[in-house]
Amino acid sequence: MRDIRLPQGVQTPVYYYDMDLLATTAAKVRSLSEQYGIHIHYATKANEDARIVSALAAEGFGADCVSAGELELAAACGVKPSAVVLSGVGKSDEDILCALRMGIGAINVESVQELYVVNALAAREGVTAKVCIRVNPNIDAHTFKYVTSGLNVNKFGVSPEEFDEFEHMLSKCSNVKFIGVQMHLGSQIRDIRPVFEAACRKAVEAADWFAAKGYAICMINLGGGLGVCYEDPDSELIPDFEQWMLTISRNIPRREGMTIHIEPGRALVAQCGTLLSRVLFVKDTPAKTFLVLDAGMNNLARPAFYGAFHKIENLSAMQRPMLENDRYYDVVGPSRQSADTWGKGRRMPLSVRGDLIAIRSAGAYGQAMATRYNLRPDAQTIYSDNIK
Ligand code: LLP
Repeated sequence: MRDIRLPQGVQTPVYYYDMDLLATTAAKVRSLSEQYGIHIHYATKANEDARIVSALAAEGFGADCVSAGELELAAACGVKPSAVVLSGVGKSDEDILCALRMGIGAINVESVQELYVVNALAAREGVTAKVCIRVNPNIDAHTFKYVTSGLNVNKFGVSPEEFDEFEHMLSKCSNVKFIGVQMHLGSQIRDIRPVFEAACRKAVEAADWFAAKGYAICMINLGGGLGVCYEDPDSELIPDFEQWMLTISRNIPRREGMTIHIEPGRALVAQCGTLLSRVLFVKDTPAKTFLVLDAGMNNLARPAFYGAFHKIENLSAMQRPMLENDRYYDVVGPSRQSADTWGKGRRMPLSVRGDLIAIRSAGAYGQAMATRYNLRPDAQTIYSDNIK
């Protein structure tokens, strides 16, 4: 971990963003996207920080949004409306109207009823909505159950068995232009090749199905999902975008007038973010030693929500001249809930009250999922390029 020194007066917990790493990651992804001819839509839900969204927009990426709030954020951060897509199984009328008024690139529709509503709202506005069908391909993404979304028992998308009904509705929707197929299998996918080969097969099948009915397929969008290395972030600061894009590029045949798209969230931003916290207490009990931190599940919900692993480092101990023997700690947050645990039995250097602790890979679904639980104040934000 890079040496991080907190500027004077900055309180913990605080989110620290490494803007150099973000820029390096984005530049690499842009160059791969040009090489493979794949359009990028950053999934803003992963991190809605305006500086981060603006940095990715400046790289030329579009956005994948899930609400009117995210659509407005993307616009405010400089994303071109034509490069924005709207996803989500529960779009409100306000979300759809906002998308129609902005004239975004595509609304990814997840049910027959939603298609009907999008058409009705577009008719009311006097516009034509550009629509992709979100297909539920019934593929196991080999990831953890909370972030699997491409199985037919999940709430997302339209199954191939429902295509007839969807197409029947489509044929009656005069304010909808059907432009293509989208799918998203789940998140934190590490088994890139087999999972995305299967996804590409299903996407092409769906595209062919609609093409055979006479619809021109302008885009295939494979969603997000590329996973990151939480166990040892420094070994893979930039996730394997190359393997991902190569797999997609090899498995989607290029057709005239059709573009290929992806919606990465986590893989672009996770490793840039670190949640910095201090040890409030070292609590020795007959059973265990607890490090009680000032950061908790209110700041970063993933461990409590999903049992997710985040690497924990003691930055102060790294500065001490004499490293003492490591100890085993249960590292916990301040909330009165056992789920507010950062990690059990973590081997760390001897730690004392006031030590600065880094919770790594916190840039995705960290700040974006923070709550005011226990009425603790929000963690502040600092950016590496603002620190002298
Ligand atoms: N596209 C769609 C339609 C999505 O639903 C998502 C994420 C993405 C793209 C971006 O996926 P990514 O590249 O970030 O995997 N809160 C969970 C993750 C939920 C992901 C939801 N959908 C977590 O903390 O692990």
